[in-house]
Amino acid sequence: MTSHTASAPGKIILFGEHAVVYGQPALAAPVHKVQAKASVADSASGSGLVIEASNLNLRLSIAEAATHALAVTARLVLEKLQKPEPDALITIQSTIPIAAGLGSGAAVSAALARALSGYLGSPLNQAELSTLVYEIEKLHHGTPSGIDNTVVCYGRPVYFVRGTPPEPLRVGRAFHMIIADTGVTSPTHVAVGGVRERWERDREKYDALFAEIGQIAEQARQAIEEGNLGRLGPLMTRNQSLLGQIGVSCNALERLIDAAEKAGAQGAKLSGGGLGGNMIALVAPESAGPIEKALKQTGAIRTIHTIVQ
Ligand code: MEV
Repeated sequence: MTSHTASAPGKIILFGEHAVVYGQPALAAPVHKVQAKASVADSASGSGLVIEASNLNLRLSIAEAATHALAVTARLVLEKLQKPEPDALITIQSTIPIAAGLGSGAAVSAALARALSGYLGSPLNQAELSTLVYEIEKLHHGTPSGIDNTVVCYGRPVYFVRGTPPEPLRVGRAFHMIIADTGVTSPTHVAVGGVRERWERDREKYDALFAEIGQIAEQARQAIEEGNLGRLGPLMTRNQSLLGQIGVSCNALERLIDAAEKAGAQGAKLSGGGLGGNMIALVAPESAGPIEKALKQTGAIRTIHTIVQ
């Protein structure tokens, strides 16, 4: 009996979401405390390749499910490796909240492709995996920048510009973030589509806002590389204000951002597509506990303490 297991982490966008779709730089980091896991094991001869994800309430055979993102992921792996469909069962488990800006879709595809290619004896490297998962991201939402697949497949902080090879983001001094979930589900494609409509109506205004976000991301990269954490909080606050101006914040996010700042966070912003999902707050390690408490009292349904390093 052969079996193979692999995983991929969740992610947060530190700076530059949305503007990154329009060519501006952005920074992202993996969140290893939440994970998608896939295991592939032999099954009875003639059963074909079956995918099971109990927390998505899903069981499908790739021969029958033509368009499901997970079936397409498996098929792309077989095509890339030029292998016939094996008789095997792929089991998926994920602790990454769905439609919450934490990269769940990309991580589940990455874990599946990593496990299946390993099972078939030809493990894909990070760059191959990221290219393959990018194809799936295009199914999830029409115009992805590629940052989500990059950060979950490489599993380390990245500086990312659409269409160019990702650069590692060197973290001069580790920093602490609290991630808090509004509980409002918000598929990325809805937020990205709304921004596109508004950009089409007033390109000049939106291009100027995107450029300003891009400058903040550049400054944040420098601050992170130098370990100058004092500069990061105010940059997050400015980035959040611009995200509000492009129309992707919402009351639930604003309430949590406000609560984090009042409880002593050095800066806070939404992370990912927005219109719900998660926000992130930069915190001193000793104030992490009180800030998590304040966020929960303000309605966060989940908080995660992560260290970017
Ligand atoms: C989603 O994590 C980040 C967005 O910028 C979309 C994308 O880059 O594809 C909102």
